[in-house]
Amino acid sequence: KKISLIGVPSDISASDRGATMGPEALRVAGMATTLEKLGYEVVDTGNLYGPKTPNHPPEDGLRHLKETVIWCQNVQDAVYTELMEGHFPVMMGGDHGMSIGSIAAVSRYCAQKNIPLCVLWIDAHADFNTPETSPTGNIHGMPVAVMSGVGPVELTGLSSVTPMVNPNNIYQVGIRSVDRAEKKLVTDSGINVFDMRRIDEIGMRMTMHSIIEQVRDKNAHLHVSFDVDSLDPSIAPGVGTKIQGGLTYREAQLCMEMVYDSGIMGSLDIAEINPALDHKNITAELAVDLAASLFGNHILPPTKGTR
Ligand code: ARG
Ligand code: MN
Ligand code: MN
Ligand code: MN
Repeated sequence: KKISLIGVPSDISASDRGATMGPEALRVAGMATTLEKLGYEVVDTGNLYGPKTPNHPPEDGLRHLKETVIWCQNVQDAVYTELMEGHFPVMMGGDHGMSIGSIAAVSRYCAQKNIPLCVLWIDAHADFNTPETSPTGNIHGMPVAVMSGVGPVELTGLSSVTPMVNPNNIYQVGIRSVDRAEKKLVTDSGINVFDMRRIDEIGMRMTMHSIIEQVRDKNAHLHVSFDVDSLDPSIAPGVGTKIQGGLTYREAQLCMEMVYDSGIMGSLDIAEINPALDHKNITAELAVDLAASLFGNHILPPTKGTR
């Protein structure tokens, strides 16, 4: 299968400026060559375009709604085209608001092919805010609500499929920051949350085992949305919304390796890399390292029957 890299140089829905440089940071860190070395045919389709970030305050609880809608439409069109061509789309972000566009596309693709859609949301944040609950109005804190059908119709209606994803098919890993009013929305929604407390208790191995079994039983397409702020800020400082107590290098590697071994991943977002806040591009380099594991890089060739 051909991998299509899609640059989304946008910070339109984030609090800090700088995620616009994320796609280039991933390129400089060797995204394409790393995947090529694993045996894939990789095409870097270049960057998508969208409105400049005006840096306006929120209106009715939303910052940059009009501009975000345009970015997400452009992402949706590009991702849908790649999926229909039989390619594997990888979004190189860009703030996490872009995932509204990519998941809109995947939801349409899955409806068209008549396969269920599951989303693995790896993040420090639940990203389940609405204009009413958000303390910031930043739309990158809202995509999980939007894909569940909760939020402004300009966003929930981006896909012809509503909700884009059944909340029971959303699996979150790494969560450790949920805003006060967001908590009730998350618990009422029916999404599956493996927060850091749960990961501490059962470990990454049981976490991923449980998620993968459920997605397999559903025979679903798995969209992986990887917000790099899920990682501990000590290893991934190049993000806007740092929360301590994140995934360790080993936990993150195991997570990615187990997703690859499951063979169920069908599309991927890499979000929130902010080179303006990074040190010598180490966050993008780590993201490429983890992406390699997601696409089958092993320490040694796997022995049959051990997993
Ligand atoms: N919960 C906070 C908010 O709504 C932070 C969201 C951070 N999201 C992200 N994709 N980094 O503003
Ligand atoms: Mn082709
Ligand atoms: Mn986050
Ligand atoms: Mn996020």
